[in-house]
Amino acid sequence: MSLLLTHLDGHPDILNHLKKTLNIPAYPIIHHQFPDQESLIKINWSCENQTVLLLTSLENPNPKILPLLFAAKTLKAKGAKQVILIAPYLAYMRQDKSFHPSEGITAHYFAELISPYFDGLITIDPHLHRIPELSDIYSIPTFVGHAAPLLAEWIKNHLSQPVLIGPDAESEQWIKATAQNQNLPHFALEKKRLGDTSVEITSEDLTQWQTHTPVLVDDIISSGHTMIEASKLLREQLGKKPAIVCIHGLFAQNSDALLLPYCTQLITTNAVLHQSNQIDVTPLIVEGIHQLT
Ligand code: R5P
Repeated sequence: MSLLLTHLDGHPDILNHLKKTLNIPAYPIIHHQFPDQESLIKINWSCENQTVLLLTSLENPNPKILPLLFAAKTLKAKGAKQVILIAPYLAYMRQDKSFHPSEGITAHYFAELISPYFDGLITIDPHLHRIPELSDIYSIPTFVGHAAPLLAEWIKNHLSQPVLIGPDAESEQWIKATAQNQNLPHFALEKKRLGDTSVEITSEDLTQWQTHTPVLVDDIISSGHTMIEASKLLREQLGKKPAIVCIHGLFAQNSDALLLPYCTQLITTNAVLHQSNQIDVTPLIVEGIHQLT
């Protein structure tokens, strides 16, 4: 089956890696915005009977969604046999339950919105916490790449005597998977969320870890406050700043600048493009392409 690669709302780093690794052509989708902000999608290349891999980055998702859905429709209208979405960061996974009676479960609604437009979805470490599998909410074939072995490799090559620390219970699956890869010690702190940008982090006595290099590991950094409060606690208890290793560095409202003074290093994967990217997730995406096509 022949494959075509295309992209919307760019991810130049992964796009270039994919082009080289798969040795397939990549064509742009033209997104024209009219003065009234309506969108027109133009595809001026042939995709008839092709499987099209559509790469997009879904951080700050809201303005990207409608053009993305129009792009999928336009590709199908132009004769594409299949359109497979590659979203290295999958948005809207954290509202995975109704935390208050007034709230809906946006993770479900987003999956229901996206699924009918695509024939498959490839992503990296979606925030699967209360939803066990992506296939529980997405009605299309999905591939989930796990970055833990890549995180573990980076930690092994760059830090001496690391102890992996999750800032909260939700991070446990990622610290466990990362630690197992290199047989590293690990534990999680406790977090109480008070609001969008306000958290409280607590822990037991940590003095036994004073000779180790503390490494905070999590799947997502958004406002940065989880990592800031966790770093403060480690500084108080261990007398040193941690290194921070994260899969999806969203850094909402420039929170990277707020966070940097609290850590020795800030390292992310290129699932979301950022200057802290040091870990390339393209091999995981390639595995997903092989599996879904
Ligand atoms: C949520 O459970 C995630 O794993 C992160 O801990 C969370 O998204 C971090 O959010 P923030 O950076 O806004 O504190």
